[in-house]
Amino acid sequence: MTPARFEPAGPLRGDYVPPPDKSISHRAALFGAMADEPVVVRNYLDSRDTRSTIDALMKLGAAVDEETGGTLLVRGVGLRAPLEATGGLLDVGNSGTLMRLLPGWLAGQPGGVWTLDGDESIRRRPVDRVAEPLRRMGAHVEARDDRLPPFTVRGTELTGISYDLPVPSAQVKSCVLIAGMLAAGSTTVVESRQSRDHTERMLRRARVPFERESLSSTVSQVDELELDEIVVPGDPSSAAFLVAAAILVPGSRVVMGNVALNWTRTGFLRIAERMGAVILGDLEEPGTEADDEPVGELDVAAGLLEGTEVAPEEVPLAIDELTLVALLGAFAEGETVVRGAGELRFKESNRIAAVVDGLRGLGADIEETEDGFAVRGDGTPLRGGTIDSRGDHRIAMLGAVAGLASTEGVEVVGMEAAAVSYPAFERDLRSLLED
Ligand code: S3P
Repeated sequence: MTPARFEPAGPLRGDYVPPPDKSISHRAALFGAMADEPVVVRNYLDSRDTRSTIDALMKLGAAVDEETGGTLLVRGVGLRAPLEATGGLLDVGNSGTLMRLLPGWLAGQPGGVWTLDGDESIRRRPVDRVAEPLRRMGAHVEARDDRLPPFTVRGTELTGISYDLPVPSAQVKSCVLIAGMLAAGSTTVVESRQSRDHTERMLRRARVPFERESLSSTVSQVDELELDEIVVPGDPSSAAFLVAAAILVPGSRVVMGNVALNWTRTGFLRIAERMGAVILGDLEEPGTEADDEPVGELDVAAGLLEGTEVAPEEVPLAIDELTLVALLGAFAEGETVVRGAGELRFKESNRIAAVVDGLRGLGADIEETEDGFAVRGDGTPLRGGTIDSRGDHRIAMLGAVAGLASTEGVEVVGMEAAAVSYPAFERDLRSLLED
């Protein structure tokens, strides 16, 4: 593992465009593979996770031509494909999204048997959350200890169900909705709290019979998807690291273009604004029933921060940025508390432990709670030190941002994990620093 050092620096100034959105890239490639007609995907993310998706789909018989500038031409096999001949091992690498979404499609392919497996981190992440609804639909699935990968899916005819999600998870919701397209009748998924809605937007886009009412989504069986082109917007979760850097390093101001501003992804921006950050942008309003993904500009400047409480309803809307809320909290005056975020334990690392141990090692006054963390600051910068990414891309990038804003700098052990979602992270971050 290569340690990388991030010295106190700044301010950050200039224009920035984040890399393509990871969640939407996975879905674009998957929906392209399920379509009968070729689908052009523009601005597809080139990263380790989204490469795992292309590789798995090619193993399933889809043809994916990569053109320059992030354009893919996906020639799919159709929703009900003659997939059985493709059975065998599918490697999802580090990708939880691929591990949870793909079984929804495979479960409805009679005759096929696939085993999905991945790296050490994936093997610690639960799949029982998708196994349970898929079994209720009639699927035959098996997991190690009935809970963990490798995950074997035997395709069969499925029947629609109505399912109340026990955990707010866009991955589980998406898995059930994808299986629902293949299942007899209709399939309803009810969330207890709104999570990201990219799958819903893509279903509408693909002209699949789909309805959303409050927290309930219903999809009906369909023969084929109608898609021709998908344009992937910039990733707000990747941009969030630069947003945090611009907020924390005094004198910074960064203008960000082509950022996805879907309301279900901008929870972090709302939390950061509440803490005192200056963020201007045309964020989407809640409850939008769109089939496209809104994009726009963000203008971010450093500001004095105060602590805040993050409520459980806000958690799914900022799930991948909650570690950054902890970082902002360490620089803020007063206490910052995140509750209802037990799901963080099941991410690429146990993110509650990783952020609490990691930031404490850099001088933060932070403690773990059962379902989140509490951090206290006095409005002064963190000291710095060494942080271990634990192989988790988002912890690696958090360490880098902490370093720039610290007084003594930060060494990040395992910085290369950033390539899972954001291979050009270090280059982009350093390009905004004034000499
Ligand atoms: C994702 C959903 C979230 C998120 C992950 C991507 C998705 O996971 O943390 O990075 O693309 O649907 P959960 O659904 O497990 O909350």
